[in-house]
Amino acid sequence: MNFVDIITEKRYGRKLSDEQIAFWIKGVTEGSIPDYQVSALLMAIVLNGMDEREMTTLTMEMAASGKQNDLSYIDGIAVDKHSTGGVGDKVTPLLLPLCASYGVKSVKLSGRGLGFTGGTIDKFESIQGFDVYPDVDSYPQRIADVGMVISGQTPDLAPADKVLYALRDVTGTVDSIPLIASSIMSKKIAGGAGAIVLDVTCGSGAFMQTYDWAEELARAMIRIGKLAGRPTVALVTDMDQPLGYTCGNILEMQEVYETFRGQGSSDVIEVVCNLAAEMVTLAGMNNGLEGDDLLLDCARRLTDGRALEQYRKLLLSQGGCLKENGAPLYVDVPHEALRVTAARDGYISSIKTDTIGQASVMLGAGRKTKTDSIDYGAGICFYKKVGDRVKRGDVICSLCHGSRSQISEDTLFDVMEMVSGAYSYSDKEPRKHKAVLGIYRSDDI
Ligand code: URA
Repeated sequence: MNFVDIITEKRYGRKLSDEQIAFWIKGVTEGSIPDYQVSALLMAIVLNGMDEREMTTLTMEMAASGKQNDLSYIDGIAVDKHSTGGVGDKVTPLLLPLCASYGVKSVKLSGRGLGFTGGTIDKFESIQGFDVYPDVDSYPQRIADVGMVISGQTPDLAPADKVLYALRDVTGTVDSIPLIASSIMSKKIAGGAGAIVLDVTCGSGAFMQTYDWAEELARAMIRIGKLAGRPTVALVTDMDQPLGYTCGNILEMQEVYETFRGQGSSDVIEVVCNLAAEMVTLAGMNNGLEGDDLLLDCARRLTDGRALEQYRKLLLSQGGCLKENGAPLYVDVPHEALRVTAARDGYISSIKTDTIGQASVMLGAGRKTKTDSIDYGAGICFYKKVGDRVKRGDVICSLCHGSRSQISEDTLFDVMEMVSGAYSYSDKEPRKHKAVLGIYRSDDI
């Protein structure tokens, strides 16, 4: 097979055969196709797209390009969850224990944060002693004992996707629904998922900035899931303001604990309960509950101690330290450095969430490059959100750093200005944001 022919096919908008896609991904995995040719094909796909058969073949080939987890020791369906990321996204540490309270078993492979979206692995690492790379051989016993494992992704999972993603990053070919959808789904399938629940975030703090774009991605991934025999549900959720009261690793894990204790923010609870309802239903563990009854049951379990009990079990099973009162022990203590106040009287009408995410990175909570170290205590606490009425001078949020932070006063003031500029105000009360904007299931597509 000649790779130039494959590029030419796509350049003229024709469909690639399964054999051509398999040839491409084999070549990418073995390193036998030069980057300039792979990049040319990627650009042709960005411009001319792929149909659902092509996307599914691409997904399955990438999933098969490395190690594939066998989760057959899980009794029933292994349901995995994925989020396209955002600012203040602390959903996974709440969702897994909540689902475990229904008997849903999960092996969750997560990433570290890069850029302004946080990573679940960094969040768990902010708990003293927590091991984010438990031995793969210990998974079956962990599943039998606590029903959950959280682990960083290993490099042998879908290696072809890693090569393609690195090329896409430097060739302006990231923004393509077929490429994003197959990239995400390949990692879920390689991870062993039997069914998949997706949180497609949408808005200024997300990869997908508009609802239409998020919906298109959701539909593409559901189609791939359907053809690949992995029932898939996608929620489109709001990321036009940070999720919950905090962003930053320890701050978010503190919020997680407070949420289990009934002090959570309504947007976090709405997202977590809707995702949990879909996960327990796909796993067939919904105890006959559906719709609002199931959502209410999820909300009850989230705060009545049942999910918290599972959370503590998970932390202890991976070496996490708890204090005598049962609260997690963190690796540092966040210190409030500066408060940001409302610039005028009125309602908060919008928050540029990407700016907030970038500010949080400047405080030390995230990485600009993969090798940067992070300050677990850094981040932002939000006291006012979109739709809240404020008076000039009211504290709208505060900037925090850890006890060993080296951040300069000048940088802190720059961050304060940046954050202050991310808030807009109106005289008229704006519509409050719903957290879950849409739900798409295989049957609707
Ligand atoms: N996340 C992924 O895993 N892949 C993409 O292509 C984009 C976001």
